Amino acid sequence: MKHTALYAGSFDPITNGHLNIIERASSMFDFITVGIILNRSKTPLLTLEERLDIVRNVTAHIPNVRVDHFEGLLADYVNRNGFDAVIRGLRATSDFEYEIQMAQMNARLYTGNTETIFLMTDPRYSFISSSLIKEVVSFGGDVTGLLPEYALQVIRSKMK
Ligand code: COA
Repeated sequence: MKHTALYAGSFDPITNGHLNIIERASSMFDFITVGIILNRSKTPLLTLEERLDIVRNVTAHIPNVRVDHFEGLLADYVNRNGFDAVIRGLRATSDFEYEIQMAQMNARLYTGNTETIFLMTDPRYSFISSSLIKEVVSFGGDVTGLLPEYALQVIRSKMK
């Protein structure tokens, strides 16, 4: 039986922290779906199409990764697709409280045996978030090594 996992997020933009989680998860599962959420509570810099394009581009070297998008409850998307696991990255202890709340609420909503699996974020990326990167880029700061070059080019051109 093939084992599948979902890695969901806004990816506005995807960072090297996200990419590191995707690469590690891809060796643990047969297929990983990167699910880009159309999150109405956040105002993204990048359109859904731009985020899909960037994520596809920067994960093209990982053969068992596919990229999709969804709206609404994560658990509904998981139930429709029957993922065996949902991958989450933990950056710091401060992430834990929110993550456990979300994992336990989602566990009530899953109709199958989906597990939430936490991977510790690589320490090189434990301090970053998409918003922090956008803020630094908007003031011309150096974010070398924190996100894929292609993603950086797109956000720079959007900010012009
Ligand atoms: N490396 C670098 N940055 C990381 C990271 C990593 N490994 N992991 C997370 N981040 C960043 C993200 O880029 C994000 O930055 P931002 O807030 O500046 O955009 C921040 O940390 C928070 O990440 P995350 O919690 O994954 O937020 P998200 O918006 O990317 O995704 C969902 C959150 C989609 C998983 C969540 O909102 C969801 O499930 N929504 C669906 C609605 C739902 O089901 N709600 C009920 C839940 S019980």
